[in-house]
Amino acid sequence: MSQPSPFAVFGHPVAHSLSPRIHQDFAEQFGIVLEYRAIDAAPTAFAEAVHAFFAAGGIGANVTLPHKGAAFALADERSEAARRAGTANVLTRLPDGRLAAHNSDGAGLVRDLTERHGVDLRGRDALLLGAGGAARAAAWSLLDAGVQTLTIVNRTPEAADALADAIGEPARVHTRYWDDLADLGSYDLILNATSAGVLGGTLKLPMSLVGARALCYDLAYGAAAIDFVAWAEAAGAHRAWDGLGMLVEQAAEAFELWHGRRPDTEPVYQALLAAG
Ligand code: ATR
Repeated sequence: MSQPSPFAVFGHPVAHSLSPRIHQDFAEQFGIVLEYRAIDAAPTAFAEAVHAFFAAGGIGANVTLPHKGAAFALADERSEAARRAGTANVLTRLPDGRLAAHNSDGAGLVRDLTERHGVDLRGRDALLLGAGGAARAAAWSLLDAGVQTLTIVNRTPEAADALADAIGEPARVHTRYWDDLADLGSYDLILNATSAGVLGGTLKLPMSLVGARALCYDLAYGAAAIDFVAWAEAAGAHRAWDGLGMLVEQAAEAFELWHGRRPDTEPVYQALLAAG
């Protein structure tokens, strides 16, 4: 590490992370002069890099791919949201020097859906594609926000079953097989929490999933979300969004945790949208 700074984002790769810009924009709203840098750490070097960062005076770190599981594992304390997800995207140094892990992705997703996009989640029948870290973060938050049912479908069915078992609400949470997607009928909320877009893979999804008033949401953003959003629009979704707003909202959750103030996310979101 070249020079100490109190805030950072860890990733691999991390050069294209929007987190430094988002946090700088938030800080400017309050006249805070923020030192926030991006730190690229390979998986084998991640834990050491995190400990060096906090030993050198780091206060808080965002964590992105592929380190969210490792961030959860190395922490000394874990919030309920982090424990539910089994991953962490926020690390904070506690006054006694120990590290606290938090996951703000689920809260960020729900805030983007409800406050930015005006979605009333209550009573919706939701389909969640994927059962990895992103899906786990989303699932509990969607249920807390009042979705009526959550159907989890994952390429590897065991992971969907494990998530449903961990949630433990059999009346509301169901799992189905990926191969049966064409037979499931339609949903009014469909969330893509797979990493297929990020990995450059393709999802073959039947258009029959998309109900007439369906809202579709990809937890990824930008190029990684193009295929899913295009599929949703072609299938007649009422609205389809990528996860840019979730990115901004999960950052706002971390910012508030560290600085005790809630930033106005809308101008930051609009600026990122305009920048493409
Ligand atoms: P993340 O942190 O982004 O959630 P992850 O924990 O590795 O990453 O989870 C990736 C998810 O995307 C998993 O649900 C994975 O399915 P498997 O459990 O079967 O691996 C899903 N996924 C990745 N590529 C996929 C593809 N091409 N088709 C369907 N699902 C895919």
